[in-house]
Amino acid sequence: MRLLIIGTGWMAEQHATQFGGIEGVELIGAVDIDRARVDEFSERHGIPNRFTSLEEALAWNQFDAAANVTPDRMHHPTTLMLVAAGKPVLCEKPLAENYSRASEMADAAERKGIINMVNLTYRNVASLQKAREMVLAGVIGEIKHVEASYLQSWLVAKFWGDWRDDPKWLWRLSRSHGSNGVLGDVGIHILDFASYGAGLDIDHVFCRLKTFDKAPGNKIGEYELDANDSFTMALDFTNGALGVVHASRWATGHLNELRLRMYGDRGGIEVVHNLQGSALRVCAGGNIDSATWETLDAGSVPTNYQRFVDAIRTGVPPEPSFRHAAELQKVLDLALVAADKRTELMARADTQ
Ligand SMILES: NC(=O)c1ccc[n+]([C@@H]2O[C@H](COP(=O)([O-])OP(=O)(O)OC[C@H]3O[C@@H](n4cnc5c(N)ncnc54)[C@H](O)[C@@H]3O)[C@@H](O)[C@H]2O)c1
Repeated sequence: MRLLIIGTGWMAEQHATQFGGIEGVELIGAVDIDRARVDEFSERHGIPNRFTSLEEALAWNQFDAAANVTPDRMHHPTTLMLVAAGKPVLCEKPLAENYSRASEMADAAERKGIINMVNLTYRNVASLQKAREMVLAGVIGEIKHVEASYLQSWLVAKFWGDWRDDPKWLWRLSRSHGSNGVLGDVGIHILDFASYGAGLDIDHVFCRLKTFDKAPGNKIGEYELDANDSFTMALDFTNGALGVVHASRWATGHLNELRLRMYGDRGGIEVVHNLQGSALRVCAGGNIDSATWETLDAGSVPTNYQRFVDAIRTGVPPEPSFRHAAELQKVLDLALVAADKRTELMARADTQ
């Protein structure tokens, strides 16, 4: 299978390493609008064909599938071009910046009947897959309550450098640089983590967004610091269960951590995934009365990269599909509206 990588920045390193390690996959070409970057990337990964536009690569046409690792706003135009050319695509998340564009991409891929997949990375977490399997097998009964969070601390900690002088972080804080804040960046990951893990669809959403002051005038150089950096979300799932989902870049002590807790009428399951690895715990059956949690070994699961290749080989559509990512994008779009139009209820009663 001859693979083309479009966009040769930070995340493309993962794609090249992962795809490069799969038997029978050849990294045949790379595209980036930045000539120096595509040359350097191709040298490092031994990629023989380089292009500075997707149009050029499509005219050449000597590839079987593509990995789209361009910035969020470029996913829509570039993926539509690949789909029109009949090429299977693994597209980075979020599929697009809004639901209408994301669903247009899903429609196009379905009409063309090509393999399409979105790189929701945390599907690679074995503990999440095992937790879902257990939920679907009824181990914790009917789910009533779901609690999920995505915690980062780069606005406080300098583990990955200082956000104040690094464009890689600054653009994520600035709407005019294409960011929808922490909601747009990791919201899709944690919504997928929660709903996929619980095996439930999201019915209703309410959201609060916050953009805290973080620099004089909330501006650093050309970067207006106006994109949200914390959110809290209340969800109803279609089975009637309640969900609380939140994310923050102020979560001191957590470099990059996803947590999911699910409680049913017959047990609870917890998944924690961070840079150290992941853990799966369950409290069910005879352990319920003593609230004893058992740690389980989740084994390992094939990565999205492997499953994309397998899907092309077998012709069986893989998950998560463009359609699935578009549906999650709909929830994110609604969350923005809910946050904008919020109605607040006074909790304190007037005793006069
Ligand atoms: N799945 C994950 O966990 C995960 C993690 C990080 C980033 N991402 C996603 O990966 C994508 C890329 O992120 P990144 O951090 O690598 O960004 P990046 O800025 O490091 O790299 C993007 C590259 O795309 C190039 N580019 C821009 N427009 C292009 C076009 N029209 N054609 C070809 N190349 C073009 C840029 O020159 C740049 O080299 C984003 O959508 C991001 O959200 C996903």
